Amino acid sequence: MASKSEMAHQAKEVLRLNDRGTYTVPTHGLYPFQWNWDSALSAIGFAHFDEARAWTEIDTLFAHQWEDGMVPHIIFHQPDEGYFPGPEVWQTGRDVPTSGITQPPVTGFAVRRIFDRAQDKTLATLRATALLPKIHAWHQWFFRARDPQETGLVAIIHPWESGRDNSVDWDRAFERVPIEGVAPFTRRDTSHANPAHRPTDAQYKRYIWLVEKFRSLGWDNTQLHDASPFRVVDPGFNAILIRSCSDLADLADRLGEPEIADQSRAMAAKGIAAMETLWSDAHGQYLCEDRTLGTLIDSPSIGGILATFAAIPADRAKALAQRIDILAKSCDFLVPSHDPTAPDFDGLRYWRGPAWLIVNYMIADGMKQAGQTAIVDKIMSDCVRLIEKSGFAEYYDPTTGAPCGGTQFTWTAAMVIEILQTHEAA
Ligand code: GLC
Repeated sequence: MASKSEMAHQAKEVLRLNDRGTYTVPTHGLYPFQWNWDSALSAIGFAHFDEARAWTEIDTLFAHQWEDGMVPHIIFHQPDEGYFPGPEVWQTGRDVPTSGITQPPVTGFAVRRIFDRAQDKTLATLRATALLPKIHAWHQWFFRARDPQETGLVAIIHPWESGRDNSVDWDRAFERVPIEGVAPFTRRDTSHANPAHRPTDAQYKRYIWLVEKFRSLGWDNTQLHDASPFRVVDPGFNAILIRSCSDLADLADRLGEPEIADQSRAMAAKGIAAMETLWSDAHGQYLCEDRTLGTLIDSPSIGGILATFAAIPADRAKALAQRIDILAKSCDFLVPSHDPTAPDFDGLRYWRGPAWLIVNYMIADGMKQAGQTAIVDKIMSDCVRLIEKSGFAEYYDPTTGAPCGGTQFTWTAAMVIEILQTHEAA
């Protein structure tokens, strides 16, 4: 078993391996471009040994922000045949091609964390001041484009936006997305990773149907929300947005931007209040809402637990800690992305059961803020056991701890550095 310093060293090597100079790829082969929330979370790892490089990662992401405020989920910096769907499918008409949907807005959180810890305060002040209005514009875009009824919570319009691509949460709503009429295509992901660990072909057809639909509307975000047959309110996604708004508010106060601070705090407060509509007593956690039907989705996934990343009420955080304790009884490694006792659980298939270090990190961070320290220690020590057993995998089987998906994964390595450096139990 490698020592902690050896593990941290290896993690740094993974980051360097996937570093393309001004951005990192999640892993070579399977994901050869820049992904949105991967970059934000990976920057937290870089910041431990190269602060300038951490800021550059986020600057590069925001250099490709759309005029309406959206930050795309993929930036296709270089052509690469190894990935589908590439720029020729998205056709978003950008000089440097990008996808046309977004991903969990964790950058506000990441920037504040990197700023707070920065050794080079001059550099941090410069970079954070420049990023502040851009991140704020993205947050405002969310509430404008993805919450047109002003409920306080935003919807995702494509499963890929959630970051939890094939979660059980989407299954029912996804059935409304047709599979007929999609242009023929060849998947590339299954040649890089075990097909049993990946989404199914039917799911892929629906992913592409939505892309073609949005493309036919010219990627006009004033139309996409209402035009999408898939509109789901994910508590985890909203918690990330709310947390980033709160963190941006604090940063804005310190950087002399009171207007951004006030507006960000207002968005966060409204979101926290609205989150209550997603609570399920029966499951003891939050659930997703199918916005088209106006009903909660009966699916006990990690999305409802990740809600703790935002400052939810103390009794809710306590209940979620108890919920994680219950999950621990049916798996060996926290936190499974789906309840192992639920019928659709699949411990190998991506977001339908496996544990992911980035989500563990965010849940633990939220639990720490809520004072639920026992569960924080349990999650963190499970993270370390996973790394020791299975290295820097994309994700892990929560029953056996076996590595799944891609290898030498950037954000996993970044989390290893972060966890080993900052958590006493590690
Ligand atoms: C998959 C994941 C997504 C991630 C991307 C790159 O699509 O579901 O969350 O951003 O891979 O790692």
